[in-house]
Amino acid sequence: MRKPIIGGNWKMNKGTPSEATEMLKKLIPLVKEINSVDIVIVPPFTALYSTIECVQNTNIMVGAQNMYFEEKGAFTGETSPLFLKELGCKFVILGHSERRDIFKETNELVNKKLKKALSLGLNTIVCIGEHLEERETGRTKEIIENQFSNTFKDLNNEEMSKVVIAYEPIWAIGTGKTATPEQAEEIHVFIRELLTKNYNKKTADIVRIQYGGSIKPKNAEDIFKKENIDGGLVGGASLQADSLYEVIKAAETSIK
Ligand code: 13P
Repeated sequence: MRKPIIGGNWKMNKGTPSEATEMLKKLIPLVKEINSVDIVIVPPFTALYSTIECVQNTNIMVGAQNMYFEEKGAFTGETSPLFLKELGCKFVILGHSERRDIFKETNELVNKKLKKALSLGLNTIVCIGEHLEERETGRTKEIIENQFSNTFKDLNNEEMSKVVIAYEPIWAIGTGKTATPEQAEEIHVFIRELLTKNYNKKTADIVRIQYGGSIKPKNAEDIFKKENIDGGLVGGASLQADSLYEVIKAAETSIK
């Protein structure tokens, strides 16, 4: 009932137009028959324009890795959501753990960005997830609930149902250490319960929750098969067309 969504978050890689298009030219023919999975490529800002041009008339959508909550003005170094829309971006990632940890983005800031994106009709992938120390001290659900309530503060059901949530346990990002399908599913179920509690059952059924953290072709299918996991946000394995294609195929074969 929920269409799986695979995001390829390139982070600060393949940021030149030639690097981006070289990868995309391999990916486009591989995925051209896949219609049951949403595919979103999220390159650095410097490769957005060439990526959008390259995927025109294909089944690949494009997202940005961040945005600011203001539309224009004296905000040196920031990117307006209006620029992203005009360019042809369909998605924006908000609150990635690297933005939260390295660039000190707070739940409050992510909430402002989210409300702005929603008001402009930009689709969002909003990331939440716990640190290793938080997991090891048994605080995962407490952390997730806190991020959930502050990041999604003051959203109504209609707004919330448009959000894609990415559950990315920080200890699994770029470490090669994936959450087991059971560990991931446990938190996805918990997030869906939070959706039911804070919104309504319909919203909880609609919202897609992706898993992110060292997804690879070899582990993707077991993770995506879980009932509450609606695809993934992929870092390292999204940089090569072959491995991203295999992850997308895993999402297609795991459709519930
Ligand atoms: P990796 O797949 O490289 O662990 O990155 C996950 C991630 O942060 C996607 O946003």
